Amino acid sequence: MAKENSMQQMGVALQQMMDEFFSIQYRYSAAMKEVQTKLEILDDEFQIKHRRNPIHHIESRLKSIQSIMGKLRRKQFPVSMQSAMENLHDIAGIRVVCPYVQDVYTVAGLLTTQDDVKLVEMRDYIRSPKANGYRSLHLIIEIPVFLQDGRMMVSVEVQIRTIAMDFWASLEHDLRYKAAGKVPDDICAELLSVGEDIATLDEKMQSIHDRIDAITADSKTGK
Ligand code: GTP
Ligand code: MG
Repeated sequence: MAKENSMQQMGVALQQMMDEFFSIQYRYSAAMKEVQTKLEILDDEFQIKHRRNPIHHIESRLKSIQSIMGKLRRKQFPVSMQSAMENLHDIAGIRVVCPYVQDVYTVAGLLTTQDDVKLVEMRDYIRSPKANGYRSLHLIIEIPVFLQDGRMMVSVEVQIRTIAMDFWASLEHDLRYKAAGKVPDDICAELLSVGEDIATLDEKMQSIHDRIDAITADSKTGK
């Protein structure tokens, strides 16, 4: 009986949380659209000025209510939408995939210097990769969203990485998911070493790109 009651209470709490979540979900989806548009505009402008795109593609996702609740529980925060808004900064997530390493920093610089973008946190896993070999530049930004109740700052997590880093992260993510977190040590070591190979390739590709750029610039100035 007690078990049935507690199940019922959990059901009510879940329903309440879902209602709250749906009622504020649009804030995060609006913030995500704003950031996506900002990125598209700066990519378009860069194309006009420099005849190439620093962004290869953009992905975005809104964290599901199950993941929000799971993460709040895991991190031992109260499980409510208010708590999610205060404690989680990745409800709205955008991934920007760039051709070259330099593009990652160019895009981050152009985005975070816009005067309606507040940089809350920057974690540079390119200069300091994670122990498993993960590389990416992570930003938490806040941007204003204009709603009927007024202006509201909403946080968005922006992950910026190269195509090669994205290739690595996708495989590693799939593998971890398939192996349910128990990836054998030899595979971990191999992934770490592939991560280093990828960083070397990224450096080489950047250098080839810069040399081609210099030749193009010389031919324009007639050198
Ligand atoms: P979360 O609790 O997952 O948000 O981690 P965190 O708050 O410590 O932030 P962190 O910057 O470490 O990671 C945020 C996100 O980056 C994750 O949700 C993944 O999308 C991505 N990420 C971080 N580490 C890894 C990794 O080792 N492998 C892969 N594939 N993705 C990672
Ligand atoms: Mg996070």
